[in-house]
Amino acid sequence: MDKFIIEGPTPLQGEIAISGSKNAALPLMAASILGDSPSTLDLIPKLRDIYTFNNVIRVTGTKVDFQEDENRLVIDPTNLSHTEAPYDLVRKMRASFYMLGALIGKMGKARVSLPGGCAWGPRPVDLHLKGMEAMGVDIDLDGGYVVASIDGEEVEGGEYTLDPSSVGATINLVLAAAKRAKKFIIRNAAKEPDVVLLCNMLVKMGADIQGIGTDTLTIRKAEILKGVEMSNDPDRIETGTFMIAAAMHPESDLTLTGCKPEDLGTFPKHFKKLGVDLTINGSTIRIQSKNSVNPVSVKTEIYPGFPTDLQAQWATLMTQADGESKVTDTIYFDRFSYVPELNRLGADLKVEKNRVTINGKTELTGASVMSTDLRASVSLVMAGMAAKGTTEVLRIYHLDRGYENLEDKLNAAGASIKRVQE
Ligand code: UD1
Repeated sequence: MDKFIIEGPTPLQGEIAISGSKNAALPLMAASILGDSPSTLDLIPKLRDIYTFNNVIRVTGTKVDFQEDENRLVIDPTNLSHTEAPYDLVRKMRASFYMLGALIGKMGKARVSLPGGCAWGPRPVDLHLKGMEAMGVDIDLDGGYVVASIDGEEVEGGEYTLDPSSVGATINLVLAAAKRAKKFIIRNAAKEPDVVLLCNMLVKMGADIQGIGTDTLTIRKAEILKGVEMSNDPDRIETGTFMIAAAMHPESDLTLTGCKPEDLGTFPKHFKKLGVDLTINGSTIRIQSKNSVNPVSVKTEIYPGFPTDLQAQWATLMTQADGESKVTDTIYFDRFSYVPELNRLGADLKVEKNRVTINGKTELTGASVMSTDLRASVSLVMAGMAAKGTTEVLRIYHLDRGYENLEDKLNAAGASIKRVQE
């Protein structure tokens, strides 16, 4: 198992290029299966979750060619014949569950393992299944697998209201309906950029989807979906992470290139309250930090609100703010496993239900800390870059799931991060 050894404190200066989005790439990969010819996807990051999903897709007989030097994936589903997504792959990554919608769409049937638990508490898939049933798909559970099928070539459809709104359920339902439902309406649908990009790809393939980008999606089946060329979006969570990381040191001057600022929702509005200089110019974002950071409380919300995938990083930044702040997660109630680790570095955070109170400013000093999930892990790296002395971050395999070349990018901007084998 690898670990990071980080020497700090170091500012972030210079340029970092943003990679393609992990969370947006996965649904595009699932959509490629629905085509009657190969699809080519660009700006696909080289991440463990992408390799895992490549393998999930390959089990079906689909050909997957990852041209890594070009960050390009070519997915050829013409020989797809097998409709199972097995447990040993699905358990590695929840998003493999998108195979349910993709295989129903493609073959009218699917046998997909239920995803396991998660580092931050229960993450059910009940809405995915209830939505499918509302569409007219038969769903059975058999030994930890969801067995889904439709009677004939199509289902009537109907409508389903997601409560709460769910990114994953919206994606799965859209994938299933695009080739199978006479007319299906998803209410309270997720509006995240990842959902919009997926819908845009499906429309390019020939799908009929109305209401893209709103909370009501109406899907009418298309007889044929063709393979297309599609470019993935830049990663908005990576963008936000590096913005926050830069603000943690008073001498940072960091420029992020290849961003899509319009995908950041209200995040820049919150960021500006820090008192840090933020300049957005086309696809470039520049962060020039100041001697002090204002305490800014945030509450996570569905898009365009503050993303839950940035709350751990924000709480980490707040350890360097002059005063008390609170971070409340309304999407996941138990996503604070990073808190005891930050406190080991000298921070002062207290969790109460779904809210963490951060008492800043605290001087951080290096120690050994343990990664627990993807976003918690990157927060510990950020804290290590702000801490005096040597910080060891153990179990960094979580980071390899979701941040492309993290240490190379940060080191090129002035950090001192070494990857060593434990
Ligand atoms: C996606 C992202 C994840 C992000 C999350 C919220 C991917 C691969 N993952 O996860 O990084 O943190 O969106 O922005 O894109 N819920 C149910 N029943 C369901 C499904 C969801 O109750 O069947 C609840 C969840 O427990 C949660 C809320 O709905 O409270 C939102 O979850 P959801 O949007 O589905 O998250 P994911 O798609 O799993």
